[in-house]
Amino acid sequence: MQSFQTTSLKIENNQLWILDQQALPQKQIWLPANTVEQLVDHICTLRVRGAPLIGLSASLLLALLAEEGVSQPDLLTALEQLRASRPTAVNLMNNLDFMKKVLQQNNFVPALSDAALYLVEEDKNLCEAIAVAGNTLIKPNSRILTHCNTGGLATAGIGTALGVIRRGFESGKIDHVWVDETRPLLQGGRLTAWELGELNIPYQLICDSMAASLMSKGLVDAVWVGADRIAANGDVANKIGTYSLAVLAHYHQIPFYIAAPKTTLDANCLNGNLIPIEQRAASEVTGVSGQFGTVNWAPENAKVYNPAFDVTPAALISAWVLDSGIITPEQVQNGIFNAA
Ligand code: MRU
Repeated sequence: MQSFQTTSLKIENNQLWILDQQALPQKQIWLPANTVEQLVDHICTLRVRGAPLIGLSASLLLALLAEEGVSQPDLLTALEQLRASRPTAVNLMNNLDFMKKVLQQNNFVPALSDAALYLVEEDKNLCEAIAVAGNTLIKPNSRILTHCNTGGLATAGIGTALGVIRRGFESGKIDHVWVDETRPLLQGGRLTAWELGELNIPYQLICDSMAASLMSKGLVDAVWVGADRIAANGDVANKIGTYSLAVLAHYHQIPFYIAAPKTTLDANCLNGNLIPIEQRAASEVTGVSGQFGTVNWAPENAKVYNPAFDVTPAALISAWVLDSGIITPEQVQNGIFNAA
């Protein structure tokens, strides 16, 4: 397969490599992902993460396995194993559905490779289109609050919500970004802070619980977040803590925007209650671990509830900014996502 590199994945010498997002920002370590077991492990441990990136890495691995001579039935098994690695982000399922159709063709080996590379290129273009559309909503001197990580690390391109923020900053309209640390896995504190620093975009890191106070003081002009799955009625699953921000934004009359590519739409899912929410290990809440070490603060047998995502009802969303443009609440109520 043709070599290329994005912020967080690369193909080199016909091998898939991923930038270890658990090691960032302390260390930049590229890890091989050459088998289904390896990639599933990277996805489950969030070394590879972000809705678009999960789907792209799974598609690329499938194409590489085909080039190595893995049979059609075994590729199908591999595809299903990859599909089951994380349940909430629908980009994984959408990308793999696309790859599955290609796998059923006669000349599937080169076709899978073309298809995976197409998805990577497409994602870059989707990110750019989201940023162009989103930038029209950014007001001069904006102070934007964002959650989790939606940038180059989570996509093949400039990102979704963070791509909008990047283009808004380049247009001179963003003064400052508030970065939610995003407990429990700290994607904001570790990854978004790192990306904004690399881009020289002024930011301040806050604990998730500080957002309400900032909003009440008039320090937040808009909230921009990504999505892991958008249901047909416009409800959105995204990183745990997103719903709290939407409620707070609504109370303080601050616009709350979702930025996502078409690969995040699930027209078959009628509403947010039907979106499967991943439950994760207790250890993520009883302490924290990473390149900085491991700390446990809770009692050893503390009972934990750890949903990785929550659902924001459509009624709290000011607009859905997709690659196709800005979608209004009226359009959503009229069923625009049903036909997606
Ligand atoms: O568990 P993660 O880190 O994969 O969760 C990521 C998010 O919730 C992002 O907001 C979402 O995937 C959009 S990334 C462009």
